[in-house]
Amino acid sequence: MTLAGRSLVTMDDLSNGEIEAIFSLADEMAAATDKQTRLPKSGGDGGQAGICKGKIMASLFFEPSTRTRLSFEAAMHRLGGNVISVVDAKATSLAKGESISDMARIVGSYADIIVIRHPWEGAAKVVADYAGVPVINAGDGGHQHPTQTLLDLYTIKRERQTIKGLKIALWGDLKYGRTIHSLIFALAKFGANILFCPTPGLEVPQNIIKKLVAEYGGELEVIRGSDGRKKTSSFPLDAIYITPKSPHQLAMMPDLNLEVELKAGVDALYVTRPQKERFADGEAGQIEQNFPVVNKKFLKGEQFKKTLVMHPLPRVDELAYEVDADPRSMYFKQAAWGVPVRMALLTLLLGAKEAEVREEPSAFEPRTDYPVYNRGYAVTCPNPVCVSVQETETKYLKPEFKIVNLEPLTLRCVYCEHGFEPRYVASAEWHEGRLDTRKYHGADSHLVKKIKPENLIIFDSASQAEERGFKPSHYA
Ligand code: NCD
Repeated sequence: MTLAGRSLVTMDDLSNGEIEAIFSLADEMAAATDKQTRLPKSGGDGGQAGICKGKIMASLFFEPSTRTRLSFEAAMHRLGGNVISVVDAKATSLAKGESISDMARIVGSYADIIVIRHPWEGAAKVVADYAGVPVINAGDGGHQHPTQTLLDLYTIKRERQTIKGLKIALWGDLKYGRTIHSLIFALAKFGANILFCPTPGLEVPQNIIKKLVAEYGGELEVIRGSDGRKKTSSFPLDAIYITPKSPHQLAMMPDLNLEVELKAGVDALYVTRPQKERFADGEAGQIEQNFPVVNKKFLKGEQFKKTLVMHPLPRVDELAYEVDADPRSMYFKQAAWGVPVRMALLTLLLGAKEAEVREEPSAFEPRTDYPVYNRGYAVTCPNPVCVSVQETETKYLKPEFKIVNLEPLTLRCVYCEHGFEPRYVASAEWHEGRLDTRKYHGADSHLVKKIKPENLIIFDSASQAEERGFKPSHYA
């Protein structure tokens, strides 16, 4: 598969082999740029200057950014390409009520590639669907941030040579951190074990956990009991995801051995800041008081002896400045790798070079073949920051969901990937032409499994069903 002309919206868009191909080109890019970035030299002459000459990258950042925007722009300049940019939605016609699909069509006719950051979850998918040129998601609300994940993985690979079988701890805001959400799936793809260490109240959303376990295999061992007490003492752990590719030793172990296993070392500690800008009302006060700090004292633990301390940055108070001088600190290096990684990605998506993709025969493929629900009426995504429910976008966007489970009936929005359990269903087949049998049923009734996916009608509420002429059945 070529990468030319493709978009990168979520980590699902890249196979392991394609990610490896991006990394090997990034090695060449790093070698070529290493004088300017002062990155460690990786050998060879990349000779990449001018490879994207004549190409234009549009950089559309509708949320604050330092690293992502500037490293993308620096990457394009280093490749000899040009950049046009917008850093404020108020300075564009979005402020006049223009939809992002119209904006995408326009920008796609001016530029060869678009990089977009937007507060609406799923916004990058809409832009990718309409632009007609490759689109890179540089962060869509709390959903995903795949290029940050690429440079996170690249950093781990450079330091540890592999990702498979490593123990990677995710720390801080696992609820709203989009870098975390992309990283979880990438780590699972490459066979790492994930240690979840959320700040209480900022646990990984259930839809992400469900997708991880259902599609990536593996096991999730919950450590924190329902009474909130932790079962380990050496590490404030909530849960562990055990990759299906490594022996399931950890999951089988009694608590005591888990302690021993943890003391044997955590390979990377990925720290994140509280994503205050996405907190719901009333969430902030309590959480900020309890946000733990990673400092020298904390890192004294035996399990952190060889740990890579990572952070997507910016940091606020969760990572002490005293750690900067420690050889385990990776975050500035990590940010610097953003340039060669993004250079490689831009080159391949623009088709300026062909990727040499070698897929391992055993490479893991997540499940994606779910039936789709897109009747275009009745049920809507309950996520208030989903692109599909914004006033400017509902005029043309049809809500669309993957039916990811039947018991209980669970839909996943194709835009923001928010999962939810709708309340009522009906069948388009059973009532055909006969008004008296237009009945709706509770989504938890056994009838759900009998209705063929293509005949399924789903409602958010009973009144919605009744407005459309359906009457309650015994199972409503
Ligand atoms: C992250 C982001 O924007 O999601 N920053 C980045 O791109 N390096 C993390 C954050 O803002 O906390």
